[in-house]
This record gives sequence, structure tokens and C-alpha cells, in this order.
Amino acid sequence: MQAFAKLPGEMTDAIPIRRPAIRLSPADSASGPTGASIAGVVVGGAEAPVAGAGPAAAAGPAPIPRIWHASGPFATHVFDALSSTFPFGEAFFVRSVLHYCDGERDAIRDPGLRQRIRGFAGQEGQHSRVHDEHMTLLLAHGYRFLARRNRFLDRMLRFHNRRTPRFSLALTAALEHLTAILARRLLADSARLTADMHPAMAPVWRWHALEEAEHKSIAYDVLCAVAPGRGLRAIAMGVNTFFLCLETFGRTVYMLGCDGLLFDRGVWREGIRFLLGDSGVLRGLGPEYRAWYRRDFHPDQVDDTALIAYFAPRVAREIAG
Ligand SMILES: [Fe+2]
Ligand SMILES: [Fe+2]
Repeated sequence: MQAFAKLPGEMTDAIPIRRPAIRLSPADSASGPTGASIAGVVVGGAEAPVAGAGPAAAAGPAPIPRIWHASGPFATHVFDALSSTFPFGEAFFVRSVLHYCDGERDAIRDPGLRQRIRGFAGQEGQHSRVHDEHMTLLLAHGYRFLARRNRFLDRMLRFHNRRTPRFSLALTAALEHLTAILARRLLADSARLTADMHPAMAPVWRWHALEEAEHKSIAYDVLCAVAPGRGLRAIAMGVNTFFLCLETFGRTVYMLGCDGLLFDRGVWREGIRFLLGDSGVLRGLGPEYRAWYRRDFHPDQVDDTALIAYFAPRVAREIAG
């Protein structure tokens, strides 16, 4: 996350850098060493509180429960699993892209693209920090292996940034395609997916999804400038798909195990329905996914303008509030 310490001053209105009103840091919190806050709700320990909204506000803070998605433990932990990869994953994205827009490795000359890269770095930097707070919540709930795993993967990705910068960029562009697909689904089906989240979580996911839709083509455009051609990006997508599925599934299983729900058939039935049922989260995403492998693919071929225009004011209100 150090890569975000000095964000360049070239931000542009085209890629707005929103700064959610998030308080954090265990050190700043009265909740103790694991205290944190997500969108204004503080957690510390398994059921920790902060000043918040709702009926309990007068009496004090509202807790974020262990299971915070109405679709149940499986759905909650799929989101937890994804979120727990974002702090180190998005730092990797930023390093991969800034590598080509930075000092001696200054391969991108187009001022417009350089400016978009700065905006991308700013947005991903914010995401990484906010999901770090979610990570603090997960640690407070006892899923401590995630921190060790993240440290290992962070070291591995830093190594890849140093030794294989072009492949790191291709991995980043491919992962941006995957996050754009998921973001579009999250926004388009917001009534079911984010409305069913704990009120402290929903704005974070809507905000993140909106910004993923906004900057979905930037890493791809850098990749086209640095390493055009279909081979590298196809390999990168194959690698990403395999490892992202494995990592997300592994983390979900781990958290279900911690909850004592690993062998609960009902939880698995509900999880399969959530992902693959008639209106499952992953249903119908095949064509968008496969489009990546087309020779003439570009992320902007799917027009998200209307979705962005609809959600931008709502997200702005939510993060300001
Ligand atoms: Fe992000
Ligand atoms: Fe992104």
C-alpha cells in the first residue's frame, strides 16, 4: 500500500477520486487493537460498535455481524473472500500500471493516458485502504489465517512486479476485466445483491463497483500500448481465472470452517443457488467473460455509461453521508 503514499496531483474529473468518509485505524479507535470502521460503523472484537444510525444509535454503536449478507453465510463469505484479496491485489494493480508511467520506465507518453493512469492509481488506492478495514473486521471475527495468506501473496506479487512487469500488467488488465464484469452485475442487480447487505457494507460495495466500471479500460489501454497482441492477455486471463476462483473458494471454505458450517448441507445448497441458481450471481456472465479472448476486444465495447450515470449521484450521497 506504500505505492499510494504519494498520489500524483494530476487527478482528472474524468476519473474522480472519491474519498469515502471512513474512519479507521486500530490505533485511532477506542475499540481496542482490532477496532476499525467501515462506512462509519466501527468494529472491534467480534461484535464491536460505533456511533451509527438506526434504532440503536441513541444507545450507542451498531455492530456488523459475522454474517452480514441476507443470502446467508456462503454469500457473506464469498464477498469476504473477495474483499480480503483487494488490499494486496489492488496495490499490485497500481504498481503494475505505474511501472510504465513512472520515471525511467516512462513508456507511456500520451498525456491523456498518463492522466487516466493517475486517476486509476488514486481510485485503486482508496479501494485498497477501505478493504483493508474490512480485513480488520475479518481478523476481529477470528479469520486470522487470511492475514498470513495476504502477506505471502503480497510478497509474491511484489516479486512479480520486479521480475515480470509485462506479465504483471497483463494480469492486472485481465483482473480489471473480471472486476468490471462483477461490478456491472453488482450494480445492475443491486436491488438483490447490495440491498441485502448490512447497511454499513452496501455503500462500500456500490462505491467500489461504480469506480471499477469507471476505470475498467485503463489497464487494458496501457497493456495495448506496452504489449499489444492477444497471446499474453489470453494466458493472463487463464491464469487469473484459475487462481482467483481457487483463492476465493479456498477463503470461503476456510471461513465456513471457522464458523463450524463447512459440512452444513443447507449452507452449500444456498451457496450454489446464490452463485449458479436461476438468478445466481454468475449466471449469464459467460459471453462477457469470453469476449476478452476476441482479437478485437476492448473493455469499452460494453457501454456502462447509463449504469454509471445512475449510480454516481447515489454513491456520492452515500459516501458524503
Ligand atoms: Fe478496485
Ligand atoms: Fe479496478
